[in-house]
Amino acid sequence: MTQRWQSVGRWALFSGMALGLFVLAWLVGHVVRSRGTQIERGPQAPWSSAEPASLAVLPDEAARAGIRLVPAPEPHALMFVHPDSPCWVEVPRPDAFPDYATAVRARRAGQFGGLKSASAPAEAQAGQRGRAVSEPDAGAGFLGAQACTPCHRERYERYRQTAHFLTSARADTSTVLGPLEDGNNMMHTGHPDLKFRMLGDGAGRVVQEVTFRELRKRVPMDIVTGAGVVGQTYLFWQGHALYQDHVSYFTRTGSWINSPGYQDGTAWYARKVIPKCLECHATYVATVDRDVPVYDPATLILGISCERCHGPGAEHVAYHEQHPDAPARHVVNPSDLTAEQQNDVCAQCHFGSATPIGQPFSFRPGDDADAFWQLPPGVESLAGGVHSSNQLARLQLSACFVGSPAMTCSDCHDPHENQRGDLGGFSQRCQACHQPEHCGMFERIGLDIATNCIDCHMPRREDDKIAVHQPAGIEFPMLRDHFIRVVPELSERLAP
Ligand code: HEC
Ligand code: HEC
Ligand code: HEC
Ligand code: HEC
Ligand code: HEC
Ligand code: HEC
Ligand code: HEC
Repeated sequence: MTQRWQSVGRWALFSGMALGLFVLAWLVGHVVRSRGTQIERGPQAPWSSAEPASLAVLPDEAARAGIRLVPAPEPHALMFVHPDSPCWVEVPRPDAFPDYATAVRARRAGQFGGLKSASAPAEAQAGQRGRAVSEPDAGAGFLGAQACTPCHRERYERYRQTAHFLTSARADTSTVLGPLEDGNNMMHTGHPDLKFRMLGDGAGRVVQEVTFRELRKRVPMDIVTGAGVVGQTYLFWQGHALYQDHVSYFTRTGSWINSPGYQDGTAWYARKVIPKCLECHATYVATVDRDVPVYDPATLILGISCERCHGPGAEHVAYHEQHPDAPARHVVNPSDLTAEQQNDVCAQCHFGSATPIGQPFSFRPGDDADAFWQLPPGVESLAGGVHSSNQLARLQLSACFVGSPAMTCSDCHDPHENQRGDLGGFSQRCQACHQPEHCGMFERIGLDIATNCIDCHMPRREDDKIAVHQPAGIEFPMLRDHFIRVVPELSERLAP
């Protein structure tokens, strides 16, 4: 085995691990205040399907420098490698997947096998498929949050400040939070031959420019994910398939980093974005099936709209345009649901590592989450770590939850407000059920205790499962544990 192919073997092994890690990887919280919450975002016009970026062409000077184009371990990807450089650039094949309409036709005709890629996640195989294939132009009745403004303007203006609203957007120089100006926009790696530079391309697009010896490639950043609490990750279109960019942004350091789960010293642009990712970070996109990562870009609605908690808005809006003073119709008010159903509305995206079943984007408020997600065997595995958007599972371990059958996320959170960092406000919520005097530390601390119950009883914790590998070392983003409890050592440290 040449050195090159040994490194490819290690890479294949690593990418398996990394795929497992990736969902865990960004599912983290951090109280660093975001400078992203105040930015203006333009109206989310339907996506115009841009020409697929032609990533896999080898320029002459790169060929002369000994860089070669070889098939990657992923069948839909190609790699640029150099014989004496144990490092590579991996990009999607331009023709890897059919367009959305062709994929829908193939799906209907049962010619599905050819479309599946070898690395289709195991979860896709596991589920039965509930509802019909979505049609190319089917919007499923989602309109986006802007459609609510004529009649709910004040609520919309507050909602616009939330991490939910800001969690995805078209990438441009205002939504990309990482530095784009010269002198500040490089990411060096542990490999001397490999560098990244993030910049505007002058035509309104933001790109990541990879330099690997004589090879220079520009890969677009089309979509921003992440409000910037912890950081942002970027996605790009290749035809109707979506891929994740190699370089992400990390808020705590204000710098560019290898995306979590990615290996330093490589350039990985061939990691497909599966529907589950957009189900949690966007409002809607027409999707062929969980097995086929092909979307109809024209139907994409970025940001999480009100409608993921209240149901698609088309009928409600049409009805009230005709009947402005009538009582509400064709819309779900979660406070009319049972506590379990209310928690399921949030569980859509805060369910931790459960396996989705059925068509993407088919859950509606009021539905039973169990019919849409399969919990891994043993709830412990879901609740065991603090690393994967598993707030419901962690909360369910708490004496508070066990002792209050009607407890919901709304007991502490108002989804229409940005409440981040308001520990005094959250502590008020505790006091709906607890007197500060009942806390074992009350005698020692006195009434000041009422301003922050959170740091002692819902500690922020580091977790090595969400390590971000950087040339300078390893970073551990932290998140808030929803298992409310007494942590004696910590309280000793925090008590005045
Ligand atoms: C043309 C006006 C109009 C538009 C646009 C509109 N609504 Fe409403 N909505 C109403 C009216 C009227 C009511 C009933 C009175 C009230 O509660 O304010 C209502 C009530 C509601 C309620 C409370 C339901 C209840 O049972 O108490 C929710 C939730 C709601 N709307 C969500 C939305 C969402 C989400 C959107 C955007 C997709 C939206 N509305 C767009 C007019 C509108
Ligand atoms: C469609 C998916 C989805 C649904 C439904 C959803 N969330 Fe979220 N939530 C997210 C994502 C994604 C983030 C991370 C956003 C970011 O920082 O980019 C998030 C972040 C949050 C945050 C952190 C906000 C901050 O400022 O950092 C809270 C709190 C939260 N969600 C509570 C809830 C509650 C309560 C519900 C149910 C009423 C709910 N979510 C429903 C996807 C969802
Ligand atoms: C099960 C739902 C879910 C899936 C799947 C998911 N995320 Fe998230 N993501 C969240 C939640 C919830 C948070 C907020 C932190 C937390 O609760 O752990 C988050 C946080 C993030 C953040 C940091 C946001 C911020 O404001 O700092 C980024 C970036 C991100 N996710 C990107 C992605 C990408 C890209 C994918 C798919 C390739 C993905 N996520 C898959 C739910 C999800
Ligand atoms: C993350 C989930 C979530 C999102 C997003 C969301 N809501 Fe709500 N909404 C709720 C929940 C839960 C309730 C019921 C509990 C409450 O009053 O907070 C509610 C209640 C309401 C009500 C009824 C208020 C009342 O007093 O009964 C209206 C109207 C409403 N939301 C409109 C909106 C609009 C408009 C948006 C978008 C601009 C939006 N919501 C976004 C979860 C959400
Ligand atoms: C909906 C009501 C409710 C809310 C809100 C609530 N709790 Fe509780 N909590 C309870 C109940 C009920 C118990 C169990 C009491 C018992 O068994 O005596 C409990 C128990 C506890 C315990 C003891 C834990 C143990 O393992 O014995 C602590 C600590 C606690 N809560 C802290 C908090 C904090 C901090 C908050 C706010 C972040 C909070 N609670 C919010 C209802 C609530
Ligand atoms: C007893 C109060 C309480 C309840 C109930 C509660 N949360 Fe939280 N949640 C908090 C507090 C406090 C924070 C920390 C906020 C901060 O640091 O700004 C938080 C933070 C979060 C965050 C941001 C992640 C992070 O680590 O900063 C998410 C996401 C979230 N909650 C989702 C939920 C969901 C979903 C539910 C329902 C399953 C829920 N919460 C129920 C108190 C609560
Ligand atoms: C400095 C850390 C600290 C702060 C701040 C704090 N607690 Fe505690 N809390 C503790 C410790 C430690 C215990 C266990 C004491 C013991 O067993 O003697 C405890 C115990 C409790 C209990 C369980 C009492 C019992 O006997 O079961 C509740 C409920 C509680 N706290 C609620 C709160 C609430 C509500 C707040 C905010 C108003 C708060 N705590 C603030 C550290 C803290």
